[in-house]
Amino acid sequence: MEQYKSVPVRLPDKTPVDILTIQRRFNQGFKREDIFLDVSPDACLINVREVDMRELRATVGELIEEHDTTGAKMVLREALQAVESIRSYGLKGRKRLFVGYNSERKVRQRQDKEKRRGRHYYANDHAFPRQSSEPPAEYLNRIVCGDSSEVLKRLPDNCVDMVFTSPPYNFGLEYGESPDDYQWEKYYEKLFSVFDECIRVLKFGGRIAVNVQPLFSDYIPSHHVISNFFMRRKLVWKGEIMWEKNNYNCKYTAWGSWKSPSSPYLKYTWEFIEVFCKGSLKAAGNAAEADITADEFKQWVNARWSVAPERNMREYGHPAMFPVELATRVLKLFSFRGAFVLDPFAGVGTTAIAAKNSGRRYLNIDVSRDYCDAAKKRLAETLL
Ligand SMILES: C[S@@+](CC[C@H](N)C(=O)[O-])C[C@H]1O[C@@H](n2cnc3c(N)ncnc32)[C@H](O)[C@@H]1O
Repeated sequence: MEQYKSVPVRLPDKTPVDILTIQRRFNQGFKREDIFLDVSPDACLINVREVDMRELRATVGELIEEHDTTGAKMVLREALQAVESIRSYGLKGRKRLFVGYNSERKVRQRQDKEKRRGRHYYANDHAFPRQSSEPPAEYLNRIVCGDSSEVLKRLPDNCVDMVFTSPPYNFGLEYGESPDDYQWEKYYEKLFSVFDECIRVLKFGGRIAVNVQPLFSDYIPSHHVISNFFMRRKLVWKGEIMWEKNNYNCKYTAWGSWKSPSSPYLKYTWEFIEVFCKGSLKAAGNAAEADITADEFKQWVNARWSVAPERNMREYGHPAMFPVELATRVLKLFSFRGAFVLDPFAGVGTTAIAAKNSGRRYLNIDVSRDYCDAAKKRLAETLL
């Protein structure tokens, strides 16, 4: 940043002038760090950082009175005029700031706005308790078969560090024994009953990350519906990751709308991960337990992740898995090693595999016995 704003002071052509005396007297009237005259054999500059203009005008007026030569009076008037002519400056009390005022103004305005409007206004009046509890030993590193809205009731409040899940889509996919063709209102009612339990068991500062694909064919923006739910429950929206699957095989038009604005069908090659925090944006944890590398961090905080979809769904017998790579990134970016990680719609245990591989503890729940058995088999085969 420049230290001073420097402007030339015009010197009289023909009138003789004792410029060194003017310089000395002018500089005696002010603090050098605020303003000073700088004279060289062929130029005169006024350097100004900040000044009270009323003081400057008064002092220059006195100096003009004091000097009896026309040349000296002209130089002093020119010096004042040079400062008056600087059009860009900030204000601090009675002073004009001629350098650094932009950054100062930006910060001050931002802080003022934050104070007036508040950050994440929708979540500030939460009543989440800060004390956390230990996860019960019988639920550590377990695959539990059951309905999550029931199973989670057996867990104490505030014992989970991180939830990562992908809810059933209600797309009519065949999910083992669970009916996947509820009416949408009933579907959300059921989903939110599970999420309410997730919020209750989550620690203060814990995170919930939900992988969700909008219900394109039913024109339901489920990522917004779900985000709206968490905001109403006073969780803070930490951000959104776009999981780019690079899946260009998906259907993109019906013949009825081909090449016509009448109703073009939009095509998506990505899904979302919505991330919410309970009570605080900061998660408590020991820095030594952060296991993300510098390169991973630099790459993953760019919220568009290109990760190939799971290729072995047929082998595991599940129609809607996410890949281990996706779960691993989420866990390493948002939780510390040793964290207790919950997936309430666990399918064939992808979150558990990522947790086991990265030194975290897990509880995976799925309503389907077949999926739970497949998850246990997968975990047993996972080498550390
Ligand atoms: C999108 S899949 C999750 C797949 C998982 N991410 C994976 O990679 O294997 C959703 C899962 O939720 C399960 N599910 C549906 N309703 C449930 C409930 N009430 N409680 C627990 N699991 C449920 C389904 O059986 C299905 O496996």
